[in-house]
Amino acid sequence: MRLEGRKALVTGGAGGIGAATVARLAAEGAEVWVGDVDLAGAERVAGEAAGHAVELDVTSLESVKAAVTAMGAPDILVNNAGTDEFGFFTYTTPEQWQRLVAINLMGVFNCTHAVLPAMQEAGYGRIVTISSEAGRVGSKGSAVYSATKGGVVAFMKAIARESARYGITANSIAPGPIETPLLMGAKEFGEIGEKVIETMKGATQMKRLGQPDEVAAAVAFLASDDATYVTGETLGVSGGLGMV
Ligand SMILES: NC(=O)c1ccc[n+]([C@@H]2O[C@H](COP(=O)([O-])OP(=O)(O)OC[C@H]3O[C@@H](n4cnc5c(N)ncnc54)[C@H](O)[C@@H]3O)[C@@H](O)[C@H]2O)c1
Repeated sequence: MRLEGRKALVTGGAGGIGAATVARLAAEGAEVWVGDVDLAGAERVAGEAAGHAVELDVTSLESVKAAVTAMGAPDILVNNAGTDEFGFFTYTTPEQWQRLVAINLMGVFNCTHAVLPAMQEAGYGRIVTISSEAGRVGSKGSAVYSATKGGVVAFMKAIARESARYGITANSIAPGPIETPLLMGAKEFGEIGEKVIETMKGATQMKRLGQPDEVAAAVAFLASDDATYVTGETLGVSGGLGMV
Protein backbone atom coordinates (compact mmCIF):
# COMPACT_ATOMS: atom_id res chain seq x y z
CA MET A 1 0.00 0.00 0.00
CA ARG A 2 2.75 2.43 -0.99
CA LEU A 3 0.29 4.98 -2.40
CA GLU A 4 -2.20 5.27 0.43
CA GLY A 5 -3.50 8.83 0.79
CA ARG A 6 -2.36 9.78 -2.73
CA LYS A 7 -4.61 10.90 -5.57
CA ALA A 8 -3.59 9.89 -9.09
CA LEU A 9 -4.70 10.87 -12.60
CA VAL A 10 -3.98 8.34 -15.35
CA THR A 11 -4.56 9.73 -18.84
CA GLY A 12 -5.57 7.23 -21.51
CA GLY A 13 -6.63 5.08 -18.58
CA ALA A 14 -9.17 3.15 -20.65
CA GLY A 15 -6.45 1.57 -22.82
CA GLY A 16 -4.11 -1.38 -22.33
CA ILE A 17 -1.23 0.08 -20.28
CA GLY A 18 -3.53 2.72 -18.76
CA ALA A 19 -6.02 0.20 -17.37
CA ALA A 20 -3.25 -1.94 -15.89
CA THR A 21 -1.77 1.18 -14.31
CA VAL A 22 -5.11 2.19 -12.84
CA ALA A 23 -5.53 -1.27 -11.31
CA ARG A 24 -2.00 -1.29 -9.91
CA LEU A 25 -2.13 2.22 -8.40
CA ALA A 26 -5.51 1.45 -6.85
CA ALA A 27 -4.19 -1.84 -5.44
CA GLU A 28 -1.38 0.15 -3.83
CA GLY A 29 -3.92 2.39 -2.08
CA ALA A 30 -4.22 5.44 -4.36
CA GLU A 31 -7.49 7.18 -5.19
CA VAL A 32 -7.35 6.83 -8.96
CA TRP A 33 -9.00 8.96 -11.61
CA VAL A 34 -9.23 7.46 -15.09
CA GLY A 35 -9.07 10.20 -17.73
CA ASP A 36 -9.84 9.34 -21.33
CA VAL A 37 -11.65 10.58 -24.44
CA ASP A 38 -13.40 7.22 -24.26
CA LEU A 39 -15.66 7.94 -21.28
CA ALA A 40 -17.45 4.57 -21.41
CA GLY A 41 -14.07 2.81 -21.36
CA ALA A 42 -12.88 5.02 -18.50
CA GLU A 43 -16.02 4.22 -16.53
CA ARG A 44 -15.52 0.49 -17.05
CA VAL A 45 -11.88 0.62 -15.89
CA ALA A 46 -12.70 2.91 -12.97
CA GLY A 47 -15.52 0.58 -11.91
CA GLU A 48 -13.16 -2.39 -11.79
CA ALA A 49 -10.68 -0.47 -9.59
CA ALA A 50 -13.16 1.38 -7.35
CA GLY A 51 -11.84 4.57 -8.96
CA HIS A 52 -13.42 7.50 -10.76
CA ALA A 53 -13.83 8.28 -14.44
CA VAL A 54 -13.42 11.68 -16.02
CA GLU A 55 -13.76 12.61 -19.68
CA LEU A 56 -10.61 14.31 -20.87
CA ASP A 57 -8.99 15.12 -24.20
CA VAL A 58 -5.27 15.65 -23.66
CA THR A 59 -5.01 17.74 -26.84
CA SER A 60 -7.06 20.49 -25.21
CA LEU A 61 -5.67 22.40 -22.24
CA GLU A 62 -9.22 23.53 -21.41
CA SER A 63 -10.48 19.96 -21.29
CA VAL A 64 -7.57 18.85 -19.10
CA LYS A 65 -8.02 21.80 -16.74
CA ALA A 66 -11.75 21.05 -16.40
CA ALA A 67 -10.95 17.43 -15.51
CA VAL A 68 -8.37 18.49 -12.91
CA THR A 69 -10.86 20.94 -11.41
CA ALA A 70 -13.48 18.17 -11.22
CA MET A 71 -11.17 15.72 -9.47
CA GLY A 72 -9.14 18.14 -7.37
CA ALA A 73 -5.37 18.44 -7.67
CA PRO A 74 -3.62 15.07 -8.09
CA ASP A 75 -0.42 14.09 -6.25
CA ILE A 76 0.46 11.73 -9.11
CA LEU A 77 0.11 12.36 -12.85
CA VAL A 78 0.62 9.49 -15.26
CA ASN A 79 0.92 10.88 -18.79
CA ASN A 80 -0.08 7.70 -20.57
CA ALA A 81 -2.49 8.74 -23.38
CA GLY A 82 -0.78 8.21 -26.71
CA THR A 83 -1.22 6.83 -30.17
CA ASP A 84 0.59 5.91 -33.37
CA GLU A 85 -0.27 5.79 -37.05
CA PHE A 86 1.99 3.25 -38.66
CA GLY A 87 3.54 4.12 -42.01
CA PHE A 88 6.92 4.76 -43.59
CA PHE A 89 7.64 8.47 -43.30
CA THR A 90 7.49 9.32 -47.01
CA TYR A 91 3.92 7.97 -47.11
CA THR A 92 2.70 10.03 -44.14
CA THR A 93 1.05 13.44 -44.23
CA PRO A 94 1.37 16.68 -42.25
CA GLU A 95 -2.14 15.99 -40.90
CA GLN A 96 -0.91 12.71 -39.42
CA TRP A 97 2.17 14.40 -37.93
CA GLN A 98 -0.06 17.02 -36.34
CA ARG A 99 -2.37 14.40 -34.85
CA LEU A 100 0.55 12.54 -33.27
CA VAL A 101 2.21 15.71 -31.98
CA ALA A 102 -1.12 16.94 -30.55
CA ILE A 103 -1.71 13.78 -28.51
CA ASN A 104 1.77 12.45 -27.70
CA LEU A 105 3.64 15.72 -27.17
CA MET A 106 1.21 18.62 -26.65
CA GLY A 107 -0.95 16.27 -24.56
CA VAL A 108 1.93 15.79 -22.11
CA PHE A 109 2.53 19.57 -22.02
CA ASN A 110 -1.17 20.23 -21.36
CA CYS A 111 -1.53 17.71 -18.53
CA THR A 112 1.75 18.68 -16.87
CA HIS A 113 0.86 22.37 -17.10
CA ALA A 114 -2.55 21.71 -15.56
CA VAL A 115 -1.20 19.92 -12.47
CA LEU A 116 2.21 21.50 -11.74
CA PRO A 117 1.18 24.73 -9.96
CA ALA A 118 -0.82 22.83 -7.32
CA MET A 119 1.99 20.28 -6.90
CA GLN A 120 4.44 23.14 -6.37
CA GLU A 121 2.16 24.68 -3.79
CA ALA A 122 1.76 21.33 -2.03
CA GLY A 123 5.52 20.72 -2.10
CA TYR A 124 4.94 17.22 -3.47
CA GLY A 125 4.31 15.61 -6.83
CA ARG A 126 5.09 12.60 -8.98
CA ILE A 127 4.93 12.85 -12.76
CA VAL A 128 5.45 9.69 -14.78
CA THR A 129 5.30 9.89 -18.56
CA ILE A 130 4.94 6.84 -20.77
CA SER A 131 7.45 7.41 -23.54
CA SER A 132 8.69 4.47 -25.65
CA GLU A 133 11.92 2.77 -26.64
CA ALA A 134 11.02 4.22 -30.06
CA GLY A 135 11.92 7.60 -28.56
CA ARG A 136 15.40 6.37 -27.76
CA VAL A 137 16.29 4.10 -30.68
CA GLY A 138 13.88 5.31 -33.42
CA SER A 139 11.31 2.90 -34.79
CA LYS A 140 10.90 1.98 -38.46
CA GLY A 141 7.39 2.91 -39.65
CA SER A 142 6.94 5.21 -36.66
CA ALA A 143 9.24 8.16 -37.37
CA VAL A 144 6.98 10.93 -36.06
CA TYR A 145 5.85 8.78 -33.13
CA SER A 146 9.54 8.25 -32.28
CA ALA A 147 10.13 12.01 -32.40
CA THR A 148 7.23 12.72 -30.05
CA LYS A 149 8.42 10.03 -27.62
CA GLY A 150 11.98 11.41 -27.66
CA GLY A 151 10.47 14.83 -27.06
CA VAL A 152 8.66 13.82 -23.88
CA VAL A 153 11.86 12.31 -22.45
CA ALA A 154 13.65 15.66 -22.85
CA PHE A 155 10.58 17.45 -21.49
CA MET A 156 10.51 15.26 -18.36
CA LYS A 157 14.22 15.95 -17.76
CA ALA A 158 13.64 19.71 -17.97
CA ILE A 159 10.62 19.48 -15.66
CA ALA A 160 12.70 17.37 -13.25
CA ARG A 161 15.31 20.14 -13.12
CA GLU A 162 12.71 22.88 -12.67
CA SER A 163 10.70 20.98 -10.06
CA ALA A 164 13.15 19.25 -7.70
CA ARG A 165 13.09 22.19 -5.29
CA TYR A 166 9.32 21.73 -4.91
CA GLY A 167 9.58 18.07 -3.93
CA ILE A 168 8.37 16.96 -7.36
CA THR A 169 9.94 14.17 -9.41
CA ALA A 170 9.46 13.72 -13.15
CA ASN A 171 10.46 10.52 -14.90
CA SER A 172 9.74 8.62 -18.10
CA ILE A 173 9.17 4.97 -18.84
CA ALA A 174 10.24 3.52 -22.16
CA PRO A 175 8.19 0.41 -22.85
CA GLY A 176 9.16 -1.99 -25.60
CA PRO A 177 6.47 -3.89 -27.51
CA ILE A 178 3.59 -4.37 -25.08
CA GLU A 179 0.57 -6.51 -25.89
CA THR A 180 -2.15 -3.84 -26.07
CA PRO A 181 -4.74 -2.72 -28.66
CA LEU A 182 -2.24 -0.09 -29.87
CA LEU A 183 0.46 -2.61 -30.79
CA MET A 184 -1.83 -5.41 -31.91
CA GLY A 185 -3.58 -2.87 -34.19
CA ALA A 186 -0.55 -3.26 -36.48
CA LYS A 187 -2.14 -6.55 -37.56
CA GLU A 188 -4.68 -4.48 -39.50
CA PHE A 189 -1.85 -3.96 -42.00
CA GLY A 190 -1.78 -7.70 -42.67
CA GLU A 191 1.52 -9.45 -43.29
CA ILE A 192 3.68 -6.34 -42.84
CA GLY A 193 2.00 -5.57 -39.51
CA GLU A 194 2.60 -9.13 -38.29
CA LYS A 195 6.22 -8.79 -39.40
CA VAL A 196 6.65 -5.51 -37.48
CA ILE A 197 5.39 -7.16 -34.27
CA GLU A 198 7.66 -10.20 -34.77
CA THR A 199 10.65 -7.94 -35.49
CA MET A 200 10.03 -5.94 -32.31
CA LYS A 201 9.70 -9.14 -30.32
CA GLY A 202 12.97 -10.38 -31.82
CA ALA A 203 14.70 -7.12 -30.86
CA THR A 204 14.09 -7.81 -27.16
CA GLN A 205 16.52 -10.03 -25.28
CA MET A 206 13.60 -11.95 -23.81
CA LYS A 207 12.06 -12.72 -27.22
CA ARG A 208 8.54 -12.01 -26.06
CA LEU A 209 6.04 -9.15 -25.91
CA GLY A 210 5.66 -7.34 -22.60
CA GLN A 211 2.42 -7.26 -20.65
CA PRO A 212 0.68 -4.05 -19.50
CA ASP A 213 1.12 -5.14 -15.85
CA GLU A 214 4.88 -5.08 -16.27
CA VAL A 215 4.74 -1.41 -17.25
CA ALA A 216 2.24 -0.65 -14.47
CA ALA A 217 4.66 -2.06 -11.87
CA ALA A 218 7.32 0.41 -13.03
CA VAL A 219 4.82 3.29 -12.87
CA ALA A 220 3.90 2.34 -9.30
CA PHE A 221 7.57 2.31 -8.31
CA LEU A 222 8.27 5.77 -9.79
CA ALA A 223 5.06 7.14 -8.23
CA SER A 224 5.92 5.78 -4.80
CA ASP A 225 8.23 6.84 -2.03
CA ASP A 226 10.54 3.99 -3.00
CA ALA A 227 11.71 6.36 -5.73
CA THR A 228 12.27 9.53 -3.68
CA TYR A 229 15.80 9.98 -5.09
CA VAL A 230 14.94 9.17 -8.71
CA THR A 231 14.19 12.03 -11.08
CA GLY A 232 14.81 12.90 -14.73
CA GLU A 233 15.34 9.22 -15.53
CA THR A 234 14.01 7.03 -18.30
CA LEU A 235 13.28 3.50 -17.17
CA GLY A 236 13.23 0.93 -19.96
CA VAL A 237 10.58 -1.75 -19.58
CA SER A 238 11.39 -3.53 -22.77
CA GLY A 239 12.98 -6.90 -22.17
CA GLY A 240 16.39 -5.38 -22.89
CA LEU A 241 15.41 -3.89 -26.28
CA GLY A 242 16.87 -0.46 -25.60
CA MET A 243 19.97 -1.27 -23.59
CA VAL A 244 23.17 0.49 -24.65
N1 LIG B 1 1.74 -0.91 -26.60
C1 LIG B 1 3.02 -0.69 -26.85
O1 LIG B 1 3.71 -1.53 -27.41
C2 LIG B 1 3.67 0.58 -26.37
C3 LIG B 1 5.06 0.66 -26.44
C4 LIG B 1 5.68 1.82 -26.02
C5 LIG B 1 4.94 2.88 -25.56
N2 LIG B 1 3.58 2.79 -25.50
C6 LIG B 1 2.85 3.95 -25.00
O2 LIG B 1 2.03 3.57 -23.93
C7 LIG B 1 0.89 4.45 -23.86
C8 LIG B 1 -0.37 3.62 -23.78
O3 LIG B 1 -0.46 2.84 -24.94
P1 LIG B 1 -1.36 1.51 -25.08
O4 LIG B 1 -0.54 0.54 -25.82
O5 LIG B 1 -1.95 1.16 -23.79
O6 LIG B 1 -2.45 2.07 -26.10
P2 LIG B 1 -4.04 1.91 -26.14
O7 LIG B 1 -4.41 2.29 -27.53
O8 LIG B 1 -4.47 0.59 -25.61
O9 LIG B 1 -4.56 3.04 -25.13
C9 LIG B 1 -4.42 4.41 -25.40
C10 LIG B 1 -5.53 5.15 -24.66
O10 LIG B 1 -5.36 6.55 -24.87
C11 LIG B 1 -6.63 7.13 -25.09
N3 LIG B 1 -6.49 8.37 -25.83
C12 LIG B 1 -6.19 8.53 -27.13
N4 LIG B 1 -6.22 9.83 -27.46
C13 LIG B 1 -6.56 10.51 -26.33
C14 LIG B 1 -6.75 11.89 -26.03
N5 LIG B 1 -6.64 12.83 -26.99
N6 LIG B 1 -7.06 12.24 -24.76
C15 LIG B 1 -7.24 11.29 -23.82
N7 LIG B 1 -7.09 9.97 -24.04
C16 LIG B 1 -6.74 9.58 -25.29
C17 LIG B 1 -7.39 6.07 -25.88
O11 LIG B 1 -8.80 6.28 -25.83
C18 LIG B 1 -6.93 4.79 -25.18
O12 LIG B 1 -7.79 4.48 -24.09
C19 LIG B 1 0.97 5.34 -25.10
O13 LIG B 1 1.55 6.59 -24.76
C20 LIG B 1 1.89 4.56 -26.02
O14 LIG B 1 2.55 5.38 -26.94
C21 LIG B 1 2.92 1.66 -25.90
